[in-house]
Amino acid sequence: MPTELAPAKVNLYLHVTGRRADGYHLLDSLAVFGPAADEVAAEPATGLSLALDGPFGAGLAAEADNLVLRAARALAAEAGIAAGAALRLAKHLPIASGIGGGSADAAAALRLLNRLWSLGFEEARLGAIGARLGADVPVCLASRPMRMGGVGEVLSPAPVLPECGLLLVNPGLALATPAVFRARMGVFTPAPALPSAWADAMAMARDLAALRNDLEAPAIGLCPPIAEVLTVLGALPGCLLARMSGSGATCFGLFATAAAAVAAAPALPGGWWRAAGALHPAR
Ligand code: C5P
Repeated sequence: MPTELAPAKVNLYLHVTGRRADGYHLLDSLAVFGPAADEVAAEPATGLSLALDGPFGAGLAAEADNLVLRAARALAAEAGIAAGAALRLAKHLPIASGIGGGSADAAAALRLLNRLWSLGFEEARLGAIGARLGADVPVCLASRPMRMGGVGEVLSPAPVLPECGLLLVNPGLALATPAVFRARMGVFTPAPALPSAWADAMAMARDLAALRNDLEAPAIGLCPPIAEVLTVLGALPGCLLARMSGSGATCFGLFATAAAAVAAAPALPGGWWRAAGALHPAR
């Protein structure tokens, strides 16, 4: 069965740079793709259907507003065809957790159905469809390191990234993105100048440490256990930087190597979801 991975999106930093008249926030962020992924599969069928499984499948409903089905309908409408596919979503990423799971699923469905329906749409055309489904869908379509601007849909190349490892941790708490943006206070943070490349993980961590995730403080206000996750992550041997991703509650630790991230994971308290491995430079 044709399958596409929907890797977790991790925001290495996220500055809120302004707000649009419609209430959406302008961002500057460096998005990378982490060591865990949902999986979307599809077979030809008459009409659209969606089956859910995987460890977090029970937390979602296979209803018409599911992002995978919305993506399928949007793509079929753009192509002027009747949407026909039996879709399956294996949900391995925690839901509403700041690592773009729903957006990654929608993006994977667009990539997959573009193939299944032999549409041959370019990434930019899929991105325009994706942007209407969610601000993170365009970067998830690329599924490779990208700098995000606009409300998330304006993509530009990321600096060349060094080898490094990521440890993702979620305390089992969901956060609603709009609530976190609403709770944000203070001035807007300008977009930083970034180098064209980082020679190694230490240099990257040093530069990232001078930046922030502007949604971290409001998310901690709504969900105080995030502060504990960050403290525990930051104290792990070899952790170069601990920060929250997106609107939370998933946090990440940055390590010099994938092996260091994997080795650090067993010291985490039981009950916290975690995934460790390489920061994947490409899908
Ligand atoms: O685009 P998406 O559906 O992922 O966004 C969810 C919500 O997060 C939006 O309705 C909005 O409240 C908030 N948001 C925002 N600025 C962004 C992205 C999301 O205010 N750039």
